[in-house]
Amino acid sequence: MKKIAVLVSGRGSNLRALYGAIEQGKLDAEICLVVSNKSKAPALEFCRNKNIPCQICKLKDFESREAFFDHLAGIVSLSGANLVVLAGFMMLVTPNFIRHFPNKVINIHPSLLPSFPGLDAQKQAFDYGVKISGCTVFMVDEGCDTGPIIIQRAVEVLETDTEETLADRILTVEHDTLWRACKIMLDGKVSVSGRRTLIKEEQ
Ligand code: GAR
Repeated sequence: MKKIAVLVSGRGSNLRALYGAIEQGKLDAEICLVVSNKSKAPALEFCRNKNIPCQICKLKDFESREAFFDHLAGIVSLSGANLVVLAGFMMLVTPNFIRHFPNKVINIHPSLLPSFPGLDAQKQAFDYGVKISGCTVFMVDEGCDTGPIIIQRAVEVLETDTEETLADRILTVEHDTLWRACKIMLDGKVSVSGRRTLIKEEQ
């Protein structure tokens, strides 16, 4: 069975959705490890309830970001993960981490990249006044939200929206997008050609 390691920092709703997709048989995989860089992340509570192996790894316990990510790469490698998913992991990963898992680290972001990278993407989009936003799953490279795009899904911004209602609707779409991205990645359907990903169609 293919294994997924998930890195989180907070609430963990994408982690829960991924777990749910596996439980429902939509995705043939197991979550072999969850690592949080925040000891109070609610995502950890979920892991404990579901007996998912989880660890806390805090930047302040290391001499540098490189040392932190070397350690993280070590524990993720030991878990035997075939895919590393950043699901609300609010740290910029270092090149040494990515080098350990070439084209195997993906991230989900709550905007249509390259618009609104970084923090508070939903607020950035709302404040800008765009009519369409959405979410993006991409392969992590050395930049901030710059890697080759795997899947994007659009969400309309309604005149009645607040920042919160927009974020909620995007989140619902995120939950249905992340497992699909994991599936095509684990099925070996995604290849990278420069900035583009090529996705093999289902037979
Ligand atoms: C999600 O909206 C995710 O797209 C976003 O953080 C939230 C985490 O929620 N990630 C980023 O903004 C990364 N740049 P969750 O902890 O409930 O999954």
